Amino acid sequence: MNKILIENTKNHFVQRFKLKPTMVFSPGRINLIGEHTDYNEGFVFPAAIDKGIYVAMRKSGSDKSSVYALDMEESLDFSTNNMVISELGSWKNFIIGVVAEVLKKGKKVQGFNAVFSGDIPNGSGLSSSAALENSIVFGLNELFGLQLTRKEMIIISQKAEHNYVGVKCGIMDQYASMFGQKDKALLLDCRTITSEAFMINLGDYELILINTNVKHQLSESAYNDRRRVCEKAAAMLNIKALRDANEKDLLDIKSKLSEEDYQKVLYVVQENERVMEASEALKNNDLKTLGSLLFDTHKGLKDKYNVSCAELDFLVDRATEDSSVIGARMMGGGFGGCTINIVHRDNMDLFIAETSKAYLKKFGNECSVYYVNLVDGTHLAT
Ligand code: GLA
Repeated sequence: MNKILIENTKNHFVQRFKLKPTMVFSPGRINLIGEHTDYNEGFVFPAAIDKGIYVAMRKSGSDKSSVYALDMEESLDFSTNNMVISELGSWKNFIIGVVAEVLKKGKKVQGFNAVFSGDIPNGSGLSSSAALENSIVFGLNELFGLQLTRKEMIIISQKAEHNYVGVKCGIMDQYASMFGQKDKALLLDCRTITSEAFMINLGDYELILINTNVKHQLSESAYNDRRRVCEKAAAMLNIKALRDANEKDLLDIKSKLSEEDYQKVLYVVQENERVMEASEALKNNDLKTLGSLLFDTHKGLKDKYNVSCAELDFLVDRATEDSSVIGARMMGGGFGGCTINIVHRDNMDLFIAETSKAYLKKFGNECSVYYVNLVDGTHLAT
C-alpha cells in the first residue's frame, strides 16, 4: 500500500472535517487472460494490484454528504433524498450511483463525508472505476452497519456503473478489486461468480504493464455495442449466454450475422477456451504456452473483436519481435490503456528502454511502464 497516499488522504479529511475517518483501500486490477468474456458469463483471470483508491470516510451526523476528490480538487455535495446525476464521464456519478444502488436494496444510508485519492493512472485500463465504487460501498457498509456481503457489494458497484455511468460492464473488475488475494490471480467463473486462486510465480519472468497513455473516444459506446452483438447472437442460438456456445454451434447462425459480428462472436467463444487452456498451462508451470495464448488473445482482440488501436498494436508487435518476451497483449476493454507483457528478467531493462524510445519516436509521446504486485482485495487501511 501507498503509505504516503493513506496519510495525505487521512490528513486532508481531518483538516476538512475536523474528525478522524475510517480508511479503506480498494485495489485496481490486471487481467492475465479472458477479455470481453465476463459479460458473456464466461471465464476471466484477473488479479488485484498494489495501485488503487484510498478513501477516508465518516458519518456526517446529518442527511448531508460531502465527497472531495483530492487529485482533481473537486467536491460533490448532496443529500440522499436529492441526488442528481452529473455530466457524463464525471467521477461524481460513481458515488451517486453506489449510494443510489445501496438505497434501492432497501438499506438505510445517512449523510457521510469522504475524501479520496488514488495512484491508478487515469485511463490506464487498470479499473480505477471499480476500485472507487468498491471503496465507497465498502466504506458505507462499515459506517452504517449495512451487513452487505462482499458479493452483494460488487453487484451494487456493477449496477452503479450500468445505471449511473452508462457502461454495461461485466463483473470482472469489481470482483478482482474486492476479492483479490496476495500473490495470486483468480480464475473467475462469471456465471457462478466464484473463483479459484492460482499462485503466480513466473520464475525468471516478470509481469510488466506498458501504458500507451492514450484513451480513444467512444470506447464506452463501442463497449456497449459489442455487448449487444454478443447478446443478440446468444438469443439467436437460444442459449443464455455465449459461454454456452462452441465454434460448431456458431455455424448455425453464421449466415444470419454480418461477417464483422460473426468474427466478434467467434472471438468470444475462442477466448473463453483460451482462458481454460491458460489455467492448465499455469497448473503445469508451462509459461511458454501461457505466453503464446496471450499473443493469440491480442490477435483476436485486434482482428476479430476490433477493440485495439495503433498504439497498443505497436507495443505488442515490438514485444512479439523480442525473444525475451514470451507473451504480450492489450489488456482491458481496449482503445488505449495498457499492454501486459511476460518478460525475462535478464533482458527487461533493455526491452523497456528500446520500446520506450521506439514508442516516443513513432507517436511523439511517452509510454509508461509499471511493475505491479498482486495484493488482497478491498479492506480497511490503517
Ligand atoms: C472492462 C469492463 C470489464 C470487462 C473488460 C474487458 O474493463 O469493465 O467488465 O468486460 O473491460 O474484458
